[in-house]
Amino acid sequence: MLSESAKQQIQELVMKYPHPRSAVMPALYIAQEQYGWLPKNAIDEVAAELGLTSTEVGSVASFYTMYHLKPVGQHVIDFCTDLPCALRGADAAFERLCDKLGLEHGEETTSDNVITLRHAPCLGGCDKAPVLLLDNNAQYESMTDEKLDALIAKLRTT
Ligand code: FES
Repeated sequence: MLSESAKQQIQELVMKYPHPRSAVMPALYIAQEQYGWLPKNAIDEVAAELGLTSTEVGSVASFYTMYHLKPVGQHVIDFCTDLPCALRGADAAFERLCDKLGLEHGEETTSDNVITLRHAPCLGGCDKAPVLLLDNNAQYESMTDEKLDALIAKLRTT
């Protein structure tokens, strides 16, 4: 269940907007912060807090990649493999990273649940390819094998 604190934060959001629908995205972030991802009951709870249907809230959650509809690791790496990044070696870097993290084909999360690695569409930094987004808030650009190794080492110690 959402904590009382989370519910209060969502209600405070509702007061900021002319329509509760406008609070869906930040409210989903609050729920995701608490659960670590967005199980069905979290979406139902957000909908109830906002006075919307679960379908209205769930459709937003399923549209945007920054919402996790299945469990993820402690850190999420969205690694751009769109064309400009691919032309700068993103596919090979992604495969190397999978090997380094021990991710078999199709797996996204390491066995210790520390890192989730996913393909991502263009992250808007094509001129500094290859690019990745860490935990939905920090973009890393011009990634080399050395930079990737350093990032993974840092994530494993935090
Ligand atoms: S294609 Fe990778 S950031 Fe645009």
